[in-house]
Amino acid sequence: LTRVRIPEGLLPLPGPQSLPVIGNVLEVGQNPHLSLTAMSKRYGTVFQIRIGTRPVVVLSGSETIRQALIKQGDEFSGRPDLYSFQYINDGKSLAFSTDLAGVWRTRRKLALNALRTFATVESKSPEYACALEEHVSKEGLYLVDRLCKLTEASGSFDPFRQIVVSVANVICGMCFGQRYSHDHQELVSLINLSEEFNKVAGSGNPADFIPILRFLPSKTMKMFLDINRRFNAFVQRIVRQHYDTYDKNNIRDITDSLIDHCEDRKLDENSNLQVSDEKIVGIVNDLFGAGFDTISTALSWSVVYLVAYPEIQERLHQELRDKIGTDHIPQLSEKNSLPYLESFILEIFRHTSFLPFTIPHCTTKDTSLHGYFIPKDTCVFINQWQINHDPEQWKDPFLFNPDRFLCADGSELNKVEAEKVMVFGLGKRRCIGEVIGRSEVFLFLAILIQRLKFSSLPGEMPDMTPEYGLTMKHKRCMLRTAPRPGFEMPSP
Ligand code: HEM
Repeated sequence: LTRVRIPEGLLPLPGPQSLPVIGNVLEVGQNPHLSLTAMSKRYGTVFQIRIGTRPVVVLSGSETIRQALIKQGDEFSGRPDLYSFQYINDGKSLAFSTDLAGVWRTRRKLALNALRTFATVESKSPEYACALEEHVSKEGLYLVDRLCKLTEASGSFDPFRQIVVSVANVICGMCFGQRYSHDHQELVSLINLSEEFNKVAGSGNPADFIPILRFLPSKTMKMFLDINRRFNAFVQRIVRQHYDTYDKNNIRDITDSLIDHCEDRKLDENSNLQVSDEKIVGIVNDLFGAGFDTISTALSWSVVYLVAYPEIQERLHQELRDKIGTDHIPQLSEKNSLPYLESFILEIFRHTSFLPFTIPHCTTKDTSLHGYFIPKDTCVFINQWQINHDPEQWKDPFLFNPDRFLCADGSELNKVEAEKVMVFGLGKRRCIGEVIGRSEVFLFLAILIQRLKFSSLPGEMPDMTPEYGLTMKHKRCMLRTAPRPGFEMPSP
């Protein structure tokens, strides 16, 4: 181990003693969000562990994380060069690669722009506020119908398996201008295999830090490589089709708009070509990948909580009946009149903290935090789960209680409490799909809860223990549903 020279006036990072070769892998264990939260109680909001021989700084506490990601944003905005990340999007991922700041910033701006144009900008069709609302409304109604039919035909359905196709269709519509049937074998198998992806990409995977582990046979790692290969091949085929049919005067979707950007800058003599075409068009791979798994996970958890808390499900349904009625599907503009639904979603985000850590960060230069020295290129974990369960911040943090987000008379959301939940990260690396994510979860849920009542099979309560990963999921389960009065014949 090389000893770090601490500049005068700064302190070495606190943290547990570590073993040679494996470091603190045993203490970190299978549930790093729990073990690292426990360590933060002992060592404070800034401490260091070792995974293998590599030091990792773990940040907790909302004040400390704000200081690092916002006030010292540039210094904490890098990504570490982790072994597994080189396989995601062929090493050219916007979210996971070690792109230099300039390249990453250019790509992030392009991605944000593309999302705005094809998701949240005002729609051309008068019935919908934006393309996102149109996609979600149609997929939501289709899903309602499909869940009823599955329950009728076979008595139950697997919520994640069904929801993920509908959610993937929304992002496919925006990225590729197409939707897929719920029986499309290639898409369905690709998006239903995200568990292995999430296990390997989760913060603290020992194989990312201990080289020898990469040479031992691992079924999970093999599946991770296989999923990435298949995912990249799927997107590349669609991109090729877009190049073949690209028409400058008819930009159909996000893929076209990224191709268009590459073509445009070739005509511009002053343009700076530091980012390759491949890295620009490859942005669509990130948007597709990030756009289905996160939202499906949030929705699937939501449905499982509705089943586990039937009185909350009834109260949500009643709010929709009172405020929206039965004559139309809910719209994004009606969000403010559904404070209990908004509180429920925030409580799902907080209580599950299904993205327990952000994607790992990395320091871009020597820096310090709260007087502790942190060298350049140090891997940094941001513990979102800890913020959302901090007893200093939340009364009864383990209790599932949407009411905590309502103001005293229940008529409005308490914005101050709402702001305390952290699931999209913060600062320069903050999620670029946040608006889409929040809108999509809201609209899908509003449609499902307005029209359906969910329940478990007799004696088969879903197992709500989360499985650790980049996104944490509940175990697969079977549920059933029935249409609500007034919606007996869901439209296709
Ligand atoms: C990054 C959460 C939906 C695109 C992230 C990060 C989190 C996150 C925690 C990492 C932040 C960090 O490293 O500090 C979520 C949640 C979602 C969601 C909870 C849904 C409920 C989406 C959607 C898209 C998207 C719908 C795109 C359509 C991205 C991208 C990044 C990212 C591209 C990488 C940003 C960067 O590295 O600069 N998201 N996300 N996300 N998200 Fe999301």
